[in-house]
Amino acid sequence: MVLADPAAAVGGPDLPQERRLVTDIPGPRSTELMARRSAAVAKGVSATVPVFVAAAGGGVIVDVDGNSLIDMGSGIAVVNVGNANPSVSAAVADQAAAFTHTCFMITPYEGYVAVCEELARVTPGDHEKRSALFNSGAEAVENAVKIARVATGRTAVVVLDHGYHGRTNLTMALTAKNMPYKQGFGPFAPEIHRVPMAYPLRWPGGPEACAREAAAEVIDQISKNIGATNVACLIAEPIQGEGGFIVPPKGFLPALADYCAANGIVFVADEIQTGFGRTGRWFACEHEGIVPDLITTAKGIAGGLPLAAVTGRAELMDAVHVGGLGGTYGGNPVACAAALAAIAEIESHDLVGAAGRLGEVMLTRLHALAARDPGVGDVRGRGAMVAVELLHPGTLEPDMARTVAVAAACHRQGVVVLTAGTYGNVLRFLPPLVMPEPLLGEAFDVIEAALQAVPPTG
Ligand SMILES: Cc1ncc(COP(=O)(O)O)c(C=O)c1O
Repeated sequence: MVLADPAAAVGGPDLPQERRLVTDIPGPRSTELMARRSAAVAKGVSATVPVFVAAAGGGVIVDVDGNSLIDMGSGIAVVNVGNANPSVSAAVADQAAAFTHTCFMITPYEGYVAVCEELARVTPGDHEKRSALFNSGAEAVENAVKIARVATGRTAVVVLDHGYHGRTNLTMALTAKNMPYKQGFGPFAPEIHRVPMAYPLRWPGGPEACAREAAAEVIDQISKNIGATNVACLIAEPIQGEGGFIVPPKGFLPALADYCAANGIVFVADEIQTGFGRTGRWFACEHEGIVPDLITTAKGIAGGLPLAAVTGRAELMDAVHVGGLGGTYGGNPVACAAALAAIAEIESHDLVGAAGRLGEVMLTRLHALAARDPGVGDVRGRGAMVAVELLHPGTLEPDMARTVAVAAACHRQGVVVLTAGTYGNVLRFLPPLVMPEPLLGEAFDVIEAALQAVPPTG
């Protein structure tokens, strides 16, 4: 049974760039599909907004009832170039008509090599690089650990508090937050060590001292508790995503990168959420001139097709024996074609610059809002990756209930916003980088009204 109106099933930038509500959210068709979903799909797979999608493009998602919602999530930072981007869709169709799979490890094809060449070109640093392609972000992070362990002959892995790296066994161990990501799923992989994150809002010594004190604390804990010579790699998100868009204060990451370099530790930047223009640079490491030894990418790489990569120094990447890296689908030809088109779109439309402009609009709106709303405890982010942390006024107590209620109110009014944060009290905004500015303004009118309708408590 197909419920969607076929006329609405063409997505891309030609969809009317408007918020349009023709039913309640969810409408009757979505409600019917939700019932089917509950009967057929495992409960553990969550649903943020209770609508089913018929088409999407530019800054909107059209549901099966004909509602047009403003997309402030980009499918969690994936469709940076816009959903159903015409050049991505055309590349996918062409490649699918030629061949859909051979397995790169059996009979290779040019698209895989071309994506690795592009990754060498756009990632930070002009040293010699190699890449390996995978299917998901978690798989890329797992492989970065494998590569770092073989290259260094060491086993320990250091990760930061509030970090998120995925849902596989090893990446659950790397991820900080227990509920919902880890609860009941152990035992977890060993040799993972968690050190403090520079979280300016919550740093005991205050935001000014945060970078310096946090870096010193991390270095002290590694030296004292683990031993630098045992550490294969340190993995850091340059801006923490699921952890709540925590932007480490300037100096923290360079201090860690320098310490790693001085001690033979592989510095891995997990740019799975921050990459491909999202923060107003190709990669968020560039904001502080950091050149990581390895960089993991996924999400924005391929305009919505599943693709991920580890890119890094040739001598590290090539340390792994033949056959040690790979997988049946890694670097699927259709996903590679999509990635080449998406990278070309980011460049030809200066979507990196667009991310910076969208970020300015969002931060201006949010700072103005914070001045009037005592429950907005922090406004932070870079480029088109910004967030507000909601607190009970005058405290650092997270207000998760308000966050959930505000997000739900936005959804009912046709704006897809996401939440995040260790304490579930962060509203995060990740518009497609092709979002028209008037539509972004309208999204913030709705968000502002939702915050007013659900005032802070306590
Ligand atoms: C920083 C970071 N690393 C890793 C992952 C895991 O990626 P995936 O969901 O594709 O496995 C995510 C996903 O949100 C992420 O944000």
